[in-house]
Amino acid sequence: MTSKIVITLPLPDVVVTSLRERFDVLAWDHPEAMPEATLQTWLQGSDAILCSVGNTISAATIAGAARQLKVISTISVGVDHIAIDAATVAGIPVGYTPGVLTDSTADMALALMLACTRRIAESDRFVRAGGWQGAWSAGMLLGTDLSRSTVGLLGMGPIGQAVAKRLQGFGATVIAWNRSVKEVPGVDMVDLDALFEQSDVISLHAALTKDTQHVVSAQRLAQMKDGAILINTARGGLVDEQALVNELDSGRLYAGLDVFDREPLSLDSPLLRLENTVLTPHLGSATAATRQAMMACAIENLVAGLMGARLPCCVNPTVYENR
Ligand code: DGY
Repeated sequence: MTSKIVITLPLPDVVVTSLRERFDVLAWDHPEAMPEATLQTWLQGSDAILCSVGNTISAATIAGAARQLKVISTISVGVDHIAIDAATVAGIPVGYTPGVLTDSTADMALALMLACTRRIAESDRFVRAGGWQGAWSAGMLLGTDLSRSTVGLLGMGPIGQAVAKRLQGFGATVIAWNRSVKEVPGVDMVDLDALFEQSDVISLHAALTKDTQHVVSAQRLAQMKDGAILINTARGGLVDEQALVNELDSGRLYAGLDVFDREPLSLDSPLLRLENTVLTPHLGSATAATRQAMMACAIENLVAGLMGARLPCCVNPTVYENR
């Protein structure tokens, strides 16, 4: 019997067409996130889910579909949108896409750092609004230099390390904190207090878990230097967003944010009216080549799961232990 898969987000036609050649496909094709109730209905009698970070795959959804579901495959390296424990208990392998988006995400972190230190978005708005009327000025829109900065990296997995490598090329001083002991050439590992107190720029590269939720709390933000910059290309939930808004509102800090507590960012978010923020819509992995590699990896996981084979990139390999 042909396997039935549910695709929870719009994907390129060529991808959906090639999946339709092999499987029965139900594909969500609207820009807004698929409602969980619709997902639960579509999952009745389905063998697989192909999803991404805009979809919550809750314990209830997994429990409701567990009898037939053979694999959940996400087009992402982050898996905080999926109830992994529930999937593991139900014996369902979860596939993800590590590695292929490391460089693109590291580039995005650097892009936001430079946009903040050199006030790129603000300058663009200034020119377009007709603000550039005088002659060249020695004091207009002054920024800071990465080469003179201490940059603190919170999380030294593959993306944190790729960011460190890039920063070393810029001549920045790089310090970092990681949950487990790590030695990275040219990087001073420090505790969280030192990271927040010493950095001119802090960039977040940790996964969102119950231990890292709001790791950037009001207290941590208060430890940051006046004028320091917070960069987040990881997950919005790492930061107490209201506390960050308070600091940004006072003008004490700057931020370059690619991810938010709630996505899409609400049109009444106070972040939208703050000059000292650069905002992008969760684009860390958004290059054509990287997105292609992510989809290829996710489809390999999906097909392996449907065939009953081990997923090439599996978040919860313990599901194979008792088979
Ligand atoms: C991920 O992969 O987790 C990113 O957030 C989306 O590319």
